[in-house]
Amino acid sequence: MTAVTNKPAKIYTAYFSPTGGTKKVALALTSALADTDRFTEIDLSLPVLAQYTFAADDIIVIAVPVFGGRVPAFALQQLTTLHGQNTSAIAIAAYGNRAYEDALLELSDSLTSQSFHVIAAAAILSEHSMLRSVAAGRPDADDLAQLTDFAKKISAKPLTDAPALTNIPGNRPYKDWQPMPVVPKVSDSCIRCGLCSATCPTQAIPSGQPHTTDPQKCILCLRCTVVCPKNARSLPQQAQAMICQKLESIKDIYKNNEFFY
Ligand SMILES: Cc1cc2nc3c(=O)[nH]c(=O)nc-3n(C[C@H](O)[C@H](O)[C@H](O)COP(=O)(O)O)c2cc1C
Repeated sequence: MTAVTNKPAKIYTAYFSPTGGTKKVALALTSALADTDRFTEIDLSLPVLAQYTFAADDIIVIAVPVFGGRVPAFALQQLTTLHGQNTSAIAIAAYGNRAYEDALLELSDSLTSQSFHVIAAAAILSEHSMLRSVAAGRPDADDLAQLTDFAKKISAKPLTDAPALTNIPGNRPYKDWQPMPVVPKVSDSCIRCGLCSATCPTQAIPSGQPHTTDPQKCILCLRCTVVCPKNARSLPQQAQAMICQKLESIKDIYKNNEFFY
């Protein structure tokens, strides 16, 4: 019989964070859990990942953004490189003030299928990457304080003997969602520096042709729009107008984070 412990051997965080909000949330929680910056970061946006296997007494924070109320399919694919051995995991969905719907449940299910033991979960507000005036400034100081408090609650739990979570909201089968059939447009300001191509998680921007985007590979994560030093990449006007209209009703609402443990 293994001893019950609440002190992890090693602390990890893995995040898919195209525009940085999810990463901010993951790092705030993980550094509070570690009470130091001594933890290992795994960036799931790197196109080629190593296979990781975690020990039963490790703990890992796994954070993804919400796309259409779901976990982005690409992030799910990247998550298959992480293997637990009944390893304690904390599932985090970062979302932009609309709704997280089935994303947190889907993330938790995917971690369980990779032999992680999901002991806590949270849905955290983060600037809407398609319209940054929505949930602007989130996660803010109050969100970060809540994440610190959440870390304390997690640390008080017995890691190897914690009961499985049964209260994560969401439905199975998960909602159907298809990304908008558009890709970022590129203006004349493009200097072909290639940064967008080098940092695109799905390798949708050919290295020799950074002014183009492969619509078969692009997941509209918008990483290219934030890394471009010339702001040459952006959502097409028509898509921007549609998003503004869709998010209009929720743009001034301050939503609360939700924690499950
Ligand atoms: C294609 C796409 C779909 C999105 N769908 C949702 C959604 O369904 N609900 C929501 O509240 N936010 C949604 N968002 C906003 C992101 O979940 C949010 O901005 C998140 O913080 C982005 O993470 P990142 O900053 O790590 O890229 C969406 C963003 C994108 C790009």
